[in-house]
Amino acid sequence: MTDRLDAMRAAVGPEDYGAAAAAAETQALFARLWHFVGFDDELTAPDGYLVRTIAGVPVVVQRFDDDIRAFRDVCSHRHARLHTAERGHGPLRCPYHGWTYSREGVPVGIPGNDPCFQLDKADKAALALTGYEVARRGRFIFVRLIPGGPDLDIWLGPLGAWLDAVSDGFAAPFDQAPLDWRADWKVGMENVLEVYHVDSVHPETFRTVTEGVWKCAEHGAHSTGTIGLTAETRRWWEGVAKRLKLTPLTAFTDYDHAIIFPNLAIGLTAGLMASVQTYEPVYAPDGTVRPGRCHLRYRLSLARQQPGASAAARQGVEGHLADFNRRLLAEDQSVAEAAWAGSQQADRPALLGHNEGRIRAFHAAWLKEMGR
Ligand code: FES
Ligand SMILES: [Fe+2]
Repeated sequence: MTDRLDAMRAAVGPEDYGAAAAAAETQALFARLWHFVGFDDELTAPDGYLVRTIAGVPVVVQRFDDDIRAFRDVCSHRHARLHTAERGHGPLRCPYHGWTYSREGVPVGIPGNDPCFQLDKADKAALALTGYEVARRGRFIFVRLIPGGPDLDIWLGPLGAWLDAVSDGFAAPFDQAPLDWRADWKVGMENVLEVYHVDSVHPETFRTVTEGVWKCAEHGAHSTGTIGLTAETRRWWEGVAKRLKLTPLTAFTDYDHAIIFPNLAIGLTAGLMASVQTYEPVYAPDGTVRPGRCHLRYRLSLARQQPGASAAARQGVEGHLADFNRRLLAEDQSVAEAAWAGSQQADRPALLGHNEGRIRAFHAAWLKEMGR
């Protein structure tokens, strides 16, 4: 191997996409780092909730009026999961025997406590659910299982401003879903960190939207990339903004992309549409990671709307964008799955060109956070 090729080799090797690395990531990355779980307006007052699996642990993120709290989603009585849906609203009450938990995670309502348990205040406090740290930046809610790392704002650095802008500028998602990919989550992230694949993978979708040079910047573990929009795309979005009375984000006029390490990716188109994605490992019920699987959870939003636009016109545009996005993601899924399958049989590290610098930065962050 020449020195020149050596310099282009990825620092992360094929073995880092396999079962042992996936198991090591559970504690080293996913339990230890801030994990984006959803938007605060998904947790509608007074008692909206989301359930997510973070580092193999089922976590309920629950609103209590103005407070948002996170707990291990396991009842202190006989271990039933407290919420059976991924999202909804209702008190933190176990469906099995009806124990109800306070915002401190303490079982304050225990049916038949006097005849059956005689639990006093101290007993109940000792039976509190395991709680986790919650932090917000704008409408973005993050949870961290292991305390002790940097505060969220410190961790986000200059990317915090991105989350503020998206929070202020965009409405609630009009389309969202988790998709099941047969690929390691890192392969999904690597795929959004370059536009090199666009000509080959998205000739009729993304290729028609963007043009020019992919300009990238690194911000600690995070990074950004920007590429221009074609004149036709710009015109289309200008028409949409006018028809739907959307207010674009003036700071973002191209296709602007950011990742927050480890697994949050945000793509903005013309400052008018936001695609917020997470690539999450998949776990068995006992918390063991399932290698080579990830859930891509995407959320599509349009910029905020002034009053007076037609709801039917908006629905038409949203339907078109949702279809376009699904086509795009199906194209990405196919190559991400091919890349992961190949990584399991690779006998040397991947090669990264000058146009894949964000992947190099992502790998450097991964190695650092993994303690290697
Ligand atoms: S298992 Fe939850 S109340 Fe019994
Ligand atoms: Fe793609």
